[in-house]
Amino acid sequence: MKTVLITGCSSGFGLEIAKYFLARDWKVIATMRSPRADILPASDRLQLLALDVTDPDSIRRAIETAGPIDVLVNNAGIGLSNALEGVTMEAVRGAFETNTLGTIAMTQAVLPQMRTRMSGTIINVSSTTTLAPHPLLSVYTATKAAVNSFTECLARELAPFNIGVHLVMPGFAPETPFHARQDLMNDGVPDTYQELVQQIHAALEQVTEVTRPQDVAEAVWRAATDPTCPLRLPAGADARTLIGA
Ligand SMILES: NC(=O)c1ccc[n+]([C@@H]2O[C@H](COP(=O)([O-])OP(=O)(O)OC[C@H]3O[C@@H](n4cnc5c(N)ncnc54)[C@H](OP(=O)(O)O)[C@@H]3O)[C@@H](O)[C@H]2O)c1
Repeated sequence: MKTVLITGCSSGFGLEIAKYFLARDWKVIATMRSPRADILPASDRLQLLALDVTDPDSIRRAIETAGPIDVLVNNAGIGLSNALEGVTMEAVRGAFETNTLGTIAMTQAVLPQMRTRMSGTIINVSSTTTLAPHPLLSVYTATKAAVNSFTECLARELAPFNIGVHLVMPGFAPETPFHARQDLMNDGVPDTYQELVQQIHAALEQVTEVTRPQDVAEAVWRAATDPTCPLRLPAGADARTLIGA
């Protein structure tokens, strides 16, 4: 039985990925900042662990408790949508701490056991906004662009050890709580940028293709199980259209 450890399973993509792998007979280590058993189906193949990817002690404890991990999915992330002038440096650091440094720290923590076994897969959830950059997303996009470069270098570094490294790139997913959780173009945007905000709201209303959590789970599954899977994998109809273009 193979084991996957997923970060950020309390909602959205992480929760869906956990359910997807559970339904396919994997052992699933679903990690959350505040673990909740009631949101996942009961199973003796499910282990819930507390994990905050910005906290080194929390990472160490989770990895020690988890034991052997075949696949690591770095999914935990936060959004930051605002004009740069409206963003505090504290918020900038927070976004990089979670999205970028959290991904790097988790990878570093899991890597020694994979290298020793000469086997394993690391899957990092990025975003198609790194391919088609949007205004008001400069900091968020920078956190994910760093994940892209990190992943691409690491894929080459770890290939001799038979460790696969992949990027899953979802498009716009309005179904998850992700966008509601941030100050998405609401109070914090300086007045000077309000016209831009209105334009973006209008553009979002025209969107017809989106990414569903199921699309992300399917892409992660492919990255975990298909040895021919490419380094970059789009997730969602909009992501496939964009990458195709
Ligand atoms: N939704 C989109 O449109 C979209 C598009 C492209 C890429 N993405 C990326 O996809 C990933 C998942 O997004 P989602 O849409 O599923 O959002 P979501 O429902 O808000 O899920 C984000 C998850 O990350 C967790 N998290 C946040 N900070 C954490 C930390 N310090 N340590 C551990 N876990 C932490 C959250 O846990 P708590 O409940 O504890 O906060 C939550 O479980 C993110 O990396 C996001 O950047 C999203």
